This record gives sequence, C-alpha cells and structure tokens, in this order.
Amino acid sequence: MEVKTSLLDNMIGVGDMVLLEPLTEDSFLENLKKRFDHNEIYTYIGSVVISLNPYRSLPIYTPDKVEEYRNRNFYELSPHIYALADEAYRSLRDQDKDQCILITGESGAGKTEASKLVMSYVAAVCGKGQEVNKVKEQLLQSNPVLEAFGNAKTVRNDNSSRFGKYMDIEFDFKGDPLGGVISNYLLEKSRVVKQPRGERNFHIFYQLLSGASDDTLKKLKLERDFSKYNYLSLDSATVSGLDDAANFRTVRNAMQIVGFMEDEMQSVLELVAAVLKLGNIEFKPESRCNGMDESRIKDKNDLKEMCELLGTEQSVLERAFSYRTVEAKMEKVSTTLNVAQAYYARDALAKNLYSRLFSWLVTRINESIKAQAKTRHKVMGVLDIYGFEIFEDNSFEQFIINYCNEKLQQIFIELTLREEQEEYIREGIEWTNIEYFNNAVICDLIENNQNGILAMLDEECLRPGTVTDETFLDKLNTICADHQHFESRLSKNSKFLNDHSLPHNCFRIQHYAGKVLYRVEGFVDKNNDLLYRDLSQAMYKANHSLIKQLFPEGNPAKVNLKRPPTAGFQFKASVGTLMSNLQSKNPNYIRCIKPNDKKASHVFNGSLVCHQARYLGLMENVRVRRAGYAFRQAYEPCLERYKMLCKNTWPHWKGRARQGVEVLMTDLQVPAEEFSYGRSKIFIRNPRTLFFLEEKRKQCLEDLATLIQKIYKGWKCRSHFLLLKKSQVVVASWFRRYAQQKKYQKIKHATTMVQSYTRGWQARKLLRELKYQKKCEEAVTTIAAFWHGTQVRREYRKFFRANAGKKIYNFTIQRIMQKYFLGLKSKLPSMSPIDKTWPARPYSFLDGVHAELRRIFHLWRCKKYRSQFTEEKKAVYEEKLEASELFKDKKALYPSSVRQPFKGDYLEISKNPKYQKLSSAVDEKILLADVVNKINRANGKGSSRLFLLTKKNVVLADQKTGQLKANVPLTDLASVSTSTQTDGFFALKLKEGSASAVKGDFLLSSDHLIEIITKLHRIGSMAADREKLNIDISDEFLVQFKQDKVCVKFIQGSPKNGNSVSCKRKNNRLLEVSVPASS
Ligand SMILES: Nc1ncnc2c1ncn2[C@@H]1O[C@H](COP(=O)(O)OP(=O)(O)OP(=O)(O)O)[C@@H](O)[C@H]1O
Ligand SMILES: [Mg+2]
Repeated sequence: MEVKTSLLDNMIGVGDMVLLEPLTEDSFLENLKKRFDHNEIYTYIGSVVISLNPYRSLPIYTPDKVEEYRNRNFYELSPHIYALADEAYRSLRDQDKDQCILITGESGAGKTEASKLVMSYVAAVCGKGQEVNKVKEQLLQSNPVLEAFGNAKTVRNDNSSRFGKYMDIEFDFKGDPLGGVISNYLLEKSRVVKQPRGERNFHIFYQLLSGASDDTLKKLKLERDFSKYNYLSLDSATVSGLDDAANFRTVRNAMQIVGFMEDEMQSVLELVAAVLKLGNIEFKPESRCNGMDESRIKDKNDLKEMCELLGTEQSVLERAFSYRTVEAKMEKVSTTLNVAQAYYARDALAKNLYSRLFSWLVTRINESIKAQAKTRHKVMGVLDIYGFEIFEDNSFEQFIINYCNEKLQQIFIELTLREEQEEYIREGIEWTNIEYFNNAVICDLIENNQNGILAMLDEECLRPGTVTDETFLDKLNTICADHQHFESRLSKNSKFLNDHSLPHNCFRIQHYAGKVLYRVEGFVDKNNDLLYRDLSQAMYKANHSLIKQLFPEGNPAKVNLKRPPTAGFQFKASVGTLMSNLQSKNPNYIRCIKPNDKKASHVFNGSLVCHQARYLGLMENVRVRRAGYAFRQAYEPCLERYKMLCKNTWPHWKGRARQGVEVLMTDLQVPAEEFSYGRSKIFIRNPRTLFFLEEKRKQCLEDLATLIQKIYKGWKCRSHFLLLKKSQVVVASWFRRYAQQKKYQKIKHATTMVQSYTRGWQARKLLRELKYQKKCEEAVTTIAAFWHGTQVRREYRKFFRANAGKKIYNFTIQRIMQKYFLGLKSKLPSMSPIDKTWPARPYSFLDGVHAELRRIFHLWRCKKYRSQFTEEKKAVYEEKLEASELFKDKKALYPSSVRQPFKGDYLEISKNPKYQKLSSAVDEKILLADVVNKINRANGKGSSRLFLLTKKNVVLADQKTGQLKANVPLTDLASVSTSTQTDGFFALKLKEGSASAVKGDFLLSSDHLIEIITKLHRIGSMAADREKLNIDISDEFLVQFKQDKVCVKFIQGSPKNGNSVSCKRKNNRLLEVSVPASS
C-alpha cells in the first residue's frame, strides 16, 4: 500500500515559508536557521526552492534519495532540490511544457552545484539505452571542461564560475535526452591578465602546468614552475582541496568524451600556453627623434616561443606591439605605441585570445552535444548565472552582472505572478490584486535605449573627442539624476546632495536587492573592449588552425571600418535573448544562499543570510505567494489528510472528494472567509487555519494511534493464540506422524528381520541342498574320474614306467623272501623240540615273520616228534605231563623225577615165583608194582611192602612173602597228601566210613613217589564213575591212624642226620619227618 506522506510530516520549522506565521524577517531567518541547524538545507517558498550551502557533503544525494523523490508530488516529501527537478522533468515529459530552472544566488552560494544536482537527477530518472547514455554522459562531461576554462578561485569561492551559463537540454517525446545547447555570458576576461589579491587565474593554467606530462610541457615550451609566468598570481597558486593535476586528467578525459579530437585538444593547449607566454613579454621605452617614447620588446625569447606556438611571424607581432594603424576615410595612419599602450595592447590580446578561445570551446561543445534529430524537442533550460554582486569596489562587471540579476528578478516577479494568476483563473477563484515591488523601473534605468545607463555608455564610447570615465559620469549625472534609483554626489536630487559618503567618481544604483556603489573607472575601456586592428590582423595571419577562426575581423579582405559592438551592447542583447527564451518556458526557481563568508560548515551568519534574503527578494516572494491564499491543496490529498477530523468522512468518504472536504470544513466550523473552493483545490487564506487543521489532526492521530494500538494488540494476541493453536495442531500431527512412523519402522524392521531369517533359513537350506547336490555331483564326478582314472591307469599302467618301481619292489621283496626262506631252510635247527636255537633274522622288517616261522617250525617239530610216539610211550608222556601239572613248582622232588622214566612195574611180579600167589590174587592188570616203606604208626620206622596199583585197587603186600596185606579200592581213597620237599613220603587218606578206613590211613614212602601219585590221580580222572582224587601238597597234614589223628610234619633235616630222611614219632599226635636240605 502506498503511504501518503506530506511536506507537513515531521517538519522542522516550516518547510514552506508561505506557512510561516507570523511572517517577519526575523521569523523568516529563524526558520531558515532552525532548518539549517538540522541539516535541512532546502526550504520552499511555494514552488521556489531556497538552498543553503552546507559547505560539506550531506548524505542526501544518494541513488536511494533519487528513487525516493522519483514520481512523487512536490509537497509530498520534505523540501529537496530533487523534488523541484522531478516536478520540472515530469511536467516537461507529461504535460509537454518546456521548463527552465533558474538558479540564482551570490558567488559561492551553490548555484553551480545545484545545476549539477539537477542535471544528474534528470540523467538518473530519464530513459536509458546506449545512445541515450552517451548523450547524458556528453552533457554531464561538458561541465568539467567549462569549469576548467571558466572557473577560478576567488576570495568567495574556490570554484567560482567566472561566466554565466545557460544550458538547454533537449528531450524527445518520451523524455529521453537528445542533446543540448550551451550559451555563455560575459566571461570575466580581465582575470586573465590580473587577479585580485588572494585569487587565481582560471583553473586551466594551473591544471596544465601541474598535470601535463613533461613531454607535453616541452612541446608547449612551458615550464612547470608557476612563478615563471607573470599572469599567474602566486599568493594562492595552490588551493587546499583542489588537485590541479588530477583535475587536468579529468578535463582531458571529459574533452575526449565530449568529442574533442586530439589535435583540437593540442591546439587549445597551445593557445593557453600562448597566453602565458604573452604575459611574459615585457616592454621598454625607446626614445624617438620626435621626442616621443616608443615601446620595444625587452626580451624577445618569449615572443619567439609564442610565435612558434601560434605559427605567427615574429616580426609582424613585434610591429603590432610598437605601432598602431588607424584607418579613417580610406587613409591609413600609423602611430607609435608607448610602453603603457604596448602593455595595454598585450593584455587586450591576451584577454581576447582567452575569451575567444572560451567561446570557441562552448561552440565546439555545442557541436558535439547538439541534438541530431530535427523533430520538435522539449527543452529544459538550466541557468547558472552569477548572482547579485556587491563588492567594496564595484566596476563595469558588477554593473553588468547586477543588471542581469535585475532582469531575472523581473522575470521572476512576472512569471510568479502570472503563474499565481493563472492558477486562480484555472481554479475559478476571484483574483485579488497583489501589492509588490516591480523592479521594471530599475531595469529601465539601465537598459532604456534612449537614456538608459548602458545606452549612455555606448554613446560616450562612440562619441568623437575625448572620452573618459569622468565624462561618462557627468553624462549620467545630467541624465539620470532625477531617477529615484540613481544616486551620485553631483546628482540634482537634493536628497543626496549632502551625501558625502558617496565618492566623486562613483554612482550608486538602488537595486531591488540593495544599493550598489559603482566606480566608473574602466567603464569606457571595458565597454569598448578594444583590440588594435594590427593585433587582430597579426593573429589572423597566424599559421594555426584555431587562431585564424578566433580573429575573423583580422581578415584584410573584410576590413570593417565600423566599430565592433560594445561589450555592454552585446550583453544587453544576449540578456534580452535569454529573457525572451526564459519567458517562453515554465520557470522553476532555486535561490541559493550562502550561510557564511568563511566557506565553513555549520556556521549560520544571520546578517549575511538576511542580506541575501533581502536582495533575492525572498520576503517579497513569500508575500506574493500569500497575497491571496497562503495554502492550496488538491481535494483528494486534503480529504485524505484530514478525514479523521470528522465522523462523516472517517474512515471512508463515499462521495466526491470536494464534497468530502466541504463536509469536513463545515463540521470543523472553519470561518468561510478563511478558505475558498477552487475547481480541483481548496485554497486556505491564512496559515493559522492550516495549522489549526494540522493541530487537530495531530490530536486525532494520537487517539487513532491508541485505537490502532488497541486493535493491533488485540489482533496480535489473537493471531498469537491462533498461531499457537495452529502450531499445537501441527506439532501434534507431526508427533503422531513421527510416532506412527517409528512404529511402522519398528514393525517393518521386525518383519524384515523375520523375513530375512526365514529367507536366510530357506536360503541356507537350499544352499545346503545345492551344496550337497554339488558335492554329490562332484563326488560322482570324482568317483567317475577316479574310476575312469583307475581304469585308464590300469589299462595303461603297463605302458608307464612309474609302475616299474612297484614291480621292482615286489620282485626284490620276492627275491629277499626267497633268499630268506632258502637260507632258513638250510639253517634250520635240529628236530629236537627242546632245541632252542634259531637262526638270526636277516632283515628287521621280517621280525614278525621270523618269530612266527620259529613258532610254526617248533610246533611242526613237536608235531613231528609226537607223531613218532607209540601208544605206550604216549601214555608214559601223558603221565609225565600230568606229573608236571601236579608237582611242578610245588614239590622239590619233582625236578629229579623228570629224567626217570615211569616204568610202572619195577618188580615184574608175574615173572617172580615168589609172588605167584599175589599175582593171581590181583586179577586186574597191574599198573605199577614197586617196593615202598610202610611207616610204622607207632615209631615211625619203615617196613618194606609191595605196592601194587591196578585200575581199581591199591594193594599192599609183604615184600618177602608176597602176602597180601591190604587191598584198598580206589573209590575209598579220599586224597593223597605229600610234602613240598624232596622226601618220598606220602599218605593215602581214606574216605571216612569206607571199609578200608577201619585200619586207618596209610603213610608210605617211595622212591617213585611222583610216579605213584601221578598214576593214582590219572586213574581217578579217567574213571567216569569216580571223583577226582585230591592231591594235597603241604609240609603238615593230618593222618588218621585208627582212631587217632596224627600230624605229619616235615622239617629241614640238620646235617648230622646225613642225607637220609628220618622219621620219628614225637608224640601221639606228631610224627616228624626230617628231610635233608637239597643242595
Ligand atoms: N549542495 C551542496 N552540498 C555540499 N557542498 C556544496 C553544495 N553546494 C555548494 N557547495 C560547496 O560550495 C562551493 C561553492 O559552490 P558553487 O561553486 O556551486 O557556488 P556558485 O554559486 O556557483 O558560486 P559562483 O557564483 O562563484 O560560481 C562548492 O565548491 C561546494 O564546496
Ligand atoms: Mg558557479
């Protein structure tokens, strides 16, 4: 939404002087000062801008500011030069009205700066494009060039414009710049040859000497040292804050941009150098025969160099400085020049040379910047002209300048009034006559063709006879004496007769801006602006492209005997043209004011400002503006601004703006004479009415602000609450979303996990199967490969050498075995089973075989041995074997029995007739017949008995008679006891209760004890019907003698008993057998 602002917002003092209440000079100055102190350097008087020079750079010319003021109404923002520039540009572009911007003010007030600000603003807001930008750049760059040649340091201003400048900028229908035309007015050429104290010559001289390269200076025959040149004042050759060298580069660059050719620039610099050289030419008097002094050039070196620069003949110029030719009525008279005249001629030439060069520069710039298209242009003129000047010593220049300012003031009054009047007519408001001072009368005093001061000066200059400044003053005294704005010491105006403050050679004019005292000295000369024809002709003859153009009157073919127009005449004419030019345009005023004389920032010199305000006619200006109505405003912005003051118009007015304003004014009870309704504007007569409205508005705004604040706070709280609520919903939804996402993620993760496990399990299973399958396949393949390999190997083994090893091995083994077996065969031990010898083994690997063979061989040998046995022998051995089983390692007697063959029948009873009877009594075959000792139970003494053994009985008989003593069936035998020692004692123990047992057990001794007991046992074990006979081997056993049981104890016999066994009955119960110790 566009915010409507107003000049009245945040105003410091009053932004528009028209609104000043009360309007007095003091309040006027007070307002200016207040604003100036707050950096508000611009103030309006209606549409006129007052500009105070701040003498420092303020941040109010930025591109942002340009944008701020662009396309805004004049009174919308605080006063600014941009507002004026924008207004002018827009009414030029949109309303097709040519504009002129008149910038006035005294020297150093800021006119040139203001003109540049206006130009830069217009350049910033107008169209863009390559061509347009070029034009803009050329227009802007014309400033540095003209400033270098036309500006100089003065006591009032370090960059004072010493010429008047009016520039027309031409625009097309769109408002794009097309080009421009510059007009220059009255360059202060006297400055070229002489500068007041503390001032400088034109900038270009210093810039050239400081900034040009050594090479350039050499070409121009110049030296860098300022003191070498008479025309350059030395007391302020360098100015602080001015960099001449840098400015020279800027000027050259600007000249290039504007379109100067290199040779043109060179020519210009040559002329500048020539002026400097000219100043150095000095003269000396030389007496002539007629007694007159004639001038001669002192040192011709400078002249020579100058002539070289300008391409003139030295002699021609030399002569021109010594002689003057006057032509009258076809006659040429040559007179000599004295030294003073020669100096006059030199300075006149220098001044002319420079001022013509300046005019040429303006023409040349115009050539470059002039609009190309021939179509109708819209024009904006910017006038930067010297302001009203009141010095201590005022001369012709000030007179001319002040005349120009009078003209400008006149046009200002005319145009302002005309504008005011036009607006009243436009708005249908009744026109009331405005009282104001019209300075037309002063203008008339100066410019009147019959008796105006300028006309009289011209008359004086053209008059034959002696003409001096004094004669001119006399003339003025006679003709203008009655004029109310003219004063002189000799004036007839009785009012001034006694005015001794007025010097004799002066006159005073009461300008609209104040009284100015002019010294007449030099008026005639300056007005004449005389350059001797010899000099202009010498210049014309120069072989220099530029010089020739500058002095066309020197052309001998066009000798004009008429005097050239005087300076005053020329100026009057150009001011006249300027005025008619300005009158055809819509004026915009910028009135520049200098706050102090010291070029200092923050200093406001009230009296100085007051003086300027007076001569600029600012109070007049305000009065004119206020004569009718002080303030006017279009209905729409007026209603917009004050609508809050009335309930009917607040907050919106539905109808037309004018009716709204009417309702408003009625409601506010503003007296009817205080305002008038125009067609599009309301006119307010007094500022206090406006301030009344403003005050009311201010109060209302405070209430409104509270209301707005209240609504805003409510709205803020509510929106904050809604925002919180919304945020809470958003947060909750986000949280829910987040929670669900988490849950979903978890489930997904779990699912994926389960899935992955399942898949993994399946995959592993499949993998196992596949692996198994693969293994099977591999196994099958391997088996097949092995099988095939085997088959193939088998098939092909015979063809391979590798097989030979095994064969050789087998063969060797076979051979070894063969050799082994054959060797063994030859070395076999005897066939005796008890032969323990066996050949040594030949190879360790045959250990097992060797042992096994030994075992087999032994078994075989035994078998062989056994196979040769007869049945009897076999039986004998079986008995021997049984004896061994029974007694080996149990009875010491056994080893000695081994060698004894078991004969059985040692007695051959059947053959012995002694035992015939006995033999017949024993019907069975006698298995053993031997003699034994039967131990007597009583004493232990033995008695021989025959001992017979059959399959069924044991028979005891008397050895001598063969009488049967006892026949014990074997079945009655319970056991046999014997000792462990070498004795032959044994006891046959009978079963208790058997028939045989009646007599008791038998204790016997035999040399064939082993055989007897073995046979007894054998018979027992072979008989199926009988129990096995127990064999009891111990050194103590009981024997049943009848009823008694006697213990038979075997002891080791002592050596005295000899080698025989002795048996003694020790007591009833013990029978001791002493057995000799076996060796
Ligand atoms: N708006 C401004 N902001 C800052 N400085 C300014 C402004 N206007 C003027 N000045 C300062 O004041 C000096 C004098 O200004 P300027 O040359 O425009 O005066 P002038 O009115 O053209 O004087 P003259 O009549 O001698 O040519 C400038 O060089 C500059 O330093
Ligand atoms: Mg200036």
